[in-house]
Amino acid sequence: MFDSKTRTVVIVGAQWGDEGKGKLVDVLSERADWVVRYQGGANAGHTVHIGDKSFVLHQIPSGILHPGVRCAIGNGTVIDPETLFTEIDELVADGVDVQGRLYVSDRAHLVLPFHKLVDSLSSASKEIGTTGRGIGPAYEDKIARRGVRVLDLRHPDRLRGLVEKGVAHADAMLISYGAPERADTEATMALLQRLAPRLLPLTDDVGLMIHSAISTGANVLLEGAQGSLLDIDHGTYPYVTSSSTTSGGAAIGAGISPMAIHAALGIVKAYTTRVGNGPLPTELQEPLGTQMRTLGNEFGATTGRPRRCGWFDGVVVRYAARINGLTGLAVTKLDVLDTFEKVAICTGYKVGDDLHTEFPGDLAALEGAVPQYEWLDGWQTSTAEARALTDLPGAARKYLDRIESLVETPIPYVSVGTRRDQIIGA
Ligand code: GDP
Ligand code: IMO
Ligand code: MG
Repeated sequence: MFDSKTRTVVIVGAQWGDEGKGKLVDVLSERADWVVRYQGGANAGHTVHIGDKSFVLHQIPSGILHPGVRCAIGNGTVIDPETLFTEIDELVADGVDVQGRLYVSDRAHLVLPFHKLVDSLSSASKEIGTTGRGIGPAYEDKIARRGVRVLDLRHPDRLRGLVEKGVAHADAMLISYGAPERADTEATMALLQRLAPRLLPLTDDVGLMIHSAISTGANVLLEGAQGSLLDIDHGTYPYVTSSSTTSGGAAIGAGISPMAIHAALGIVKAYTTRVGNGPLPTELQEPLGTQMRTLGNEFGATTGRPRRCGWFDGVVVRYAARINGLTGLAVTKLDVLDTFEKVAICTGYKVGDDLHTEFPGDLAALEGAVPQYEWLDGWQTSTAEARALTDLPGAARKYLDRIESLVETPIPYVSVGTRRDQIIGA
């Protein structure tokens, strides 16, 4: 992955999230100096299995599990300070040394209790099926220029004025929902006063730090959260998250130049999942949907919700390859397909007599769309022990070759299990 010309690499989800970004970041962190989260917040759940331990990272970069790798949370994220420290404390209790190797951008915005309250009570959030972590309301405040940034914690007087503005807006929203709950300035101030002495020492100019690291030849991984089809611009709007999840968001959210990024690795499952509402063209009917969910253990790492499952959608991943400029794909969870007699790849959607092979911006174009499948033979052999492409059964290699040709992107990595060593290509 890293070489003399490729030192800053962005890792993005190329479907609807939960593709196994955490696992790939963990594997690739072996040779990284820095891992940076650049967007999203505690809506993410990145799972890493090490030995018999399982870690779910929500805000902290997955690189934290490699001693010596430095980790940063960039300006493009929204930080929930309460749960950040819960996450840090859990890592420390599990023997992970976090001290002196985790940095938080002073420009990142804060997710405050009233953002979570608004997210949990808004009917729009319910319709989208958000994670309830306050992500949308925090980004709304950022864009509306009434957000609270980490650096505001350095100025208690200014902080109170900003919190009052946020509370007033949140109350107006709650009143408009007919909800009896209200945001609470004093409780929010008390929380921030309690957490600021812990948060401020982690705070720095992360963009400058990463720029300096790149200048001195460091290997940097930019860890995306969510997936390309949840991107605020490129996803299935309005069934999306509130940030730029694609590689374009990486430069903005880490605070570096787009010219500093050398490669973009798209993570995809060997099939498709989605948690929350919105279109999923290849969604499986029952009982196949439940069968795949059970085989893949497809339950949300953040909310525990069952994930909707479908066959691999080549239209979606081709689109993701284009908008991210993917230089490679990592296909995860190939082992989950091990028992199927036949496996399918969607190559287009039929709407009436028309065949669509490009993902549409208008969701109305997906109504009544019939996925067009290419059926391939299953391999009905365990792939869990494969450590090279040549260890894979021929049918599994054919399946990967077809994905590669359809997406027009090479597949340098294939993951065949949850464990660190269950990887081909690393
Ligand atoms: P992320 O949000 O993209 O980091 O993905 P999640 O952690 O939310 O979901 C991916 C799930 O799949 C996790 O439970 C991983 O442990 C698991 N996983 C990752 N790679 C593989 C794989 O190759 N095979 C199997 N069976 N599970 C995997
Ligand atoms: P990782 O990083 C999968 C989904 C939610 C909902 C929509 C908006 O683990 O891949 P939000 O709370 O962000 O306003 O919810 O986005 N969503 C995710 N789905 N993986 C994630 O993160 C997600 N983060 C948000 O389910 O549909
Ligand atoms: Mg996840």
